[in-house]
Amino acid sequence: MSKQILVLKSSPRENGNSNALADQLVGGAKEMGADVECLSIHDMNIQPCDACDVCQETGVCIVKDDMQKVYPLLEKADAIVLASPIYYFTINAQAKAVIDRLYALETEQGNSLGGKEIGIILTYGDTDLHNSGGINAIRTLEDTFRYIGAKIVGIVHGTADGVGDAEKDPELMKRAFNLGQKLAEA
Ligand SMILES: Cc1cc2nc3c(=O)[nH]c(=O)nc-3n(C[C@H](O)[C@H](O)[C@H](O)COP(=O)(O)O)c2cc1C
Repeated sequence: MSKQILVLKSSPRENGNSNALADQLVGGAKEMGADVECLSIHDMNIQPCDACDVCQETGVCIVKDDMQKVYPLLEKADAIVLASPIYYFTINAQAKAVIDRLYALETEQGNSLGGKEIGIILTYGDTDLHNSGGINAIRTLEDTFRYIGAKIVGIVHGTADGVGDAEKDPELMKRAFNLGQKLAEA
């Protein structure tokens, strides 16, 4: 059966760099026969976690917003890809809101996303991973998915600031394509 891959794009720029790389990843994954679904989480109404803790009692998040559409897709997917621009030295707020809402998937046996495969795409304006804050995003996502028990299969990150810059970097684009292929196989 083909792999189910869910791609979450958090950039507000439809033609931006993280989306361009995510589209490359999708191309690589589809070439290998994966079944891919993409969501632009910036265009969805996804509220921050309000720490009501109801989910810790019932297993269900009571915040009635678009995250209710995302939860079943996350649970169905074999692999999840998060593509985010770096904003103020880490992932953007749209991406962080989704991550905080994963709290509702915690169970006594661990997070229900445990065992899934993860791909990460990050783009930043600075020329350096550390100065850009990309390193903080990587650290946050590594800690998050280690805690959840999901396996990061690959992280593609690079400098690409203005719209169209990622497409001018064929090596970066290729790395995203290759990660898509790897996720489809893994
Ligand atoms: C609000 C805001 C904050 C940003 N903060 C950083 C930053 O801390 N470090 C950095 O290197 N680039 C920063 N950038 C540049 C973006 O990371 C860069 O343009 C990236 O390619 C945007 O991705 P996108 O094209 O997918 O939207 C920032 C851009 C915006 C709009």
